[in-house]
Order: sequence, then C-alpha cells, then structure tokens
Amino acid sequence: NPSPSSQGLNMYTWQEIQRHNQETDQWLVINRKVYDVTGWADRHPGGHQVLNHYAGEDATDVFRAIHPDPDIVRLYLKPLLIGELAPEEPNQERNKNVSEVSGLKSMQRDEDELYFRVSLSFSVVNQPSCLGGPAIA
Ligand code: HEM
Repeated sequence: NPSPSSQGLNMYTWQEIQRHNQETDQWLVINRKVYDVTGWADRHPGGHQVLNHYAGEDATDVFRAIHPDPDIVRLYLKPLLIGELAPEEPNQERNKNVSEVSGLKSMQRDEDELYFRVSLSFSVVNQPSCLGGPAIA
C-alpha cells in the first residue's frame, strides 16, 4: 500500500506503477509525479494511443518535447495526479532508458500513422542523424 509523502501525496514504486499498463487501467509518470489517465485518455487532444504507449512508464521526455506550454498542460494534469515516485525510486524504471528518439522508433513499429503524426510535433528532434540509434528492447 502506498504511504503518503509530506505533501499528502501517495508514494509509489515502479513495481506498482508498471501494473497499470492496460487501456482500462493506465498510469503515467511525468517529472516523478504519477497520473491516472484511465478515464481521460479518450479526451487527450493528442489521442489515446500515445498515452497507451507509455502506460505504466515514464513519459517525462516525450511529454516535455510535445507540450511546450506548461500553463496549458498544468490545468489538465492537476485532476489526474494521484501520487509521486517514492524517493528511493530512480527517475526511469530499471533497464529502461527511453529517449525521445528511441520512443519514436518503437512507436513507428507499433503504429506507422501515429508515428507520422507524432513526428510532426517532434520535427526539432526528428533529424535523420538521430534515427540511426539503437532500438530499445
Ligand atoms: C497526463 C499526460 C498528458 C496530458 C495532461 C496531455 C495534455 C495535452 C494537451 C492539453 C494537449 C493540447 C495542447 C495544446 O492545446 O496546446 C496535448 C496535445 C498532444 N499531446 Fe499530450 N498530454 C499528455 C501526455 C502525452 C504523451 C505521453 C504524449 C506522447 C507522445 C502526448 C502527445 C501529444 C500530442 C502528439 C499532442 C498534439 C496533438 C495535435 O496537435 O494534434 N501527450 N496533450
């Protein structure tokens, strides 16, 4: 069971967060905060598939790259907040170092059409020189 932090937020481990990786039960981690996007994913302006892709994972890098206006997203994030990463947990789950580009590569495998849409938003980082990097497992 999660224990509350000093700010009254529940604290979660990656082990717990990774369980919420289903369309019917999906959490995201952004900047060490945990968000339950289960009921909200269909209303995400960027579509539910990109959220599904990161369910149970850390989406900090991709989130920052795509949503440049913190004031807009803050309004959306607030009601979805359910807790934060426990202090002893690493920023990313172990054995996973999801960069923006490798995230895009795996999305391309999943969804060609989606890759195209997202890569439009990513035009700054989506340079040919970036695309030869190693794919993630
Ligand atoms: C809880 C997490 C998230 C929240 C609250 C959120 C919120 C938003 C909001 C408010 C917009 C519209 C931006 C605007 O009007 O300027 C947006 C657009 C978008 N989001 Fe997210 N987002 C989240 C996570 C993600 C993730 C993980 C991705 C992964 C790729 C993503 C991809 C996109 C894309 C591609 C758009 C642009 C859609 C378009 O312009 O067609 N979002 N998001």
